[in-house]
Amino acid sequence: MTTGYLWVKALHIVFVTSWFAGLFYLPRIFVNLALVPDPGPERERLLTMARKLWRFMQPLMGLAVVFGLWMWLGYGVGRGAGWMHAKLAVVVLLLVHHFACGRLLRALAAGSDRHTHRWYRVFNEIPVLGLFAAVALVVVKPF
Ligand code: HEM
Repeated sequence: MTTGYLWVKALHIVFVTSWFAGLFYLPRIFVNLALVPDPGPERERLLTMARKLWRFMQPLMGLAVVFGLWMWLGYGVGRGAGWMHAKLAVVVLLLVHHFACGRLLRALAAGSDRHTHRWYRVFNEIPVLGLFAAVALVVVKPF
């Protein structure tokens, strides 16, 4: 593989890792928000943290996907391969989870969200499973 390709892959891994920092931490803030239902300084502080993190996650997600697509469509790596199709399905689920976080943040900020802290603890496990699946598929290439 060319040096250029290896730089694209390196940047892909950097932005995937950074995006996942947000996917892991934002629902954690939601758990704390669900434990502080009443308006006040603590809830405002948590909402400010969540809004900043959510804004920061957009370019990270975008760049992780762009560099992945560049390897797949640009360099043709994984084209027609079962592992790539399965990985793309996992990526779509991760993107659905990502945008669900945005919708939940809006509902929490509006005070209209009714999910419990337990519900958010389970919700927070989705990216863990997604990371396992995506990394196993792309490194092991089982099919
Ligand atoms: C649209 C989204 C994505 C596309 C099109 C994509 C595509 C690719 C491609 C073609 C490779 C190179 C594979 C190789 O050189 O053998 C790759 C590497 C990698 N991808 Fe993605 N990817 C995407 C999203 C993700 C996500 C969400 C994760 C993590 C959860 C991820 C984790 C990785 C890792 C760890 C590697 C390096 C594998 C290695 O060095 O062997 N990718 N990706």
